[in-house]
Amino acid sequence: MSADKVNHGTAAEAVPVIELRGITKHFSTEEVDTYALRGIDLNVRKGEFVAVTGPSGCGKSTLMAVLGLLTDFEEGRYRLAGRDVGELNGDARAVVRNQHIGFVFQSFNLVGDLTVLDNVALPLKFRSGVKKAERHRRASEALERVGLAHRLKHVPHQLSGGQQQRVAIARALVGAPDLILADEPTGNLDSENAAHVMQLFLELHTAGTTLLMVTHEASLATQAQRMVRMLDGRILDTVQAAA
Ligand SMILES: Nc1ncnc2c1ncn2[C@@H]1O[C@H](COP(=O)(O)OP(=O)(O)O)[C@@H](O)[C@H]1O
Ligand SMILES: [Mg+2]
Repeated sequence: MSADKVNHGTAAEAVPVIELRGITKHFSTEEVDTYALRGIDLNVRKGEFVAVTGPSGCGKSTLMAVLGLLTDFEEGRYRLAGRDVGELNGDARAVVRNQHIGFVFQSFNLVGDLTVLDNVALPLKFRSGVKKAERHRRASEALERVGLAHRLKHVPHQLSGGQQQRVAIARALVGAPDLILADEPTGNLDSENAAHVMQLFLELHTAGTTLLMVTHEASLATQAQRMVRMLDGRILDTVQAAA
């Protein structure tokens, strides 16, 4: 873990990793204004595994994009690990993204002409002072965690979809982020590979990772610790998993 992490030690445990208050976001085109988020309040504690569900178009991906500092928002406040990140400029956002957040997308988003090892090592390349040998060491470790230590030299198209998604998860993990955001991570996978990815998330959760996962599938959502249900840009309710 890097020294600048805010959320370490027992005294800081009470500080949520995510604190959203009254977040709104709309998209304007010439024809229509779409209100994607209409006032989102959400706290996520360190180590929580939260599933976000809701019908298509209800704002799940927009919420993930706000959380990942991939887009701005209009009203409200966002604190990440105790720090106000709503007002940061582009460069500062990129640094926060790189150091504190890991992303997993439905379509894997691996770089096609890089090896598995180099794909996973990529986020570390944008951190100063991490030498190549160290980047590769950490990337191999992350790949070991997802069960792909034997595929380091392959390129993405030589792997199955499920394997590619596990590479993407290793890439999300490699920088030891405070938070992993996964938007429909099993959306392009068959049920067997989806179950494997879910198993991996459950293991990461057990190991202490804070995880938000968007999913359509109730059978996956109910395996999380908490299920946040969205509708029309709002949080409808939160369902706590049975202990
Ligand atoms: N870039 C965009 N431009 C215009 N409208 C958008 C854009 N992105 C999302 N929207 C709209 O915002 C709403 C929420 O979208 P999204 O967050 O992608 O929903 P979900 O992920 O739950 O399917 C939808 O009505 C969608 O059409
Ligand atoms: Mg979406």
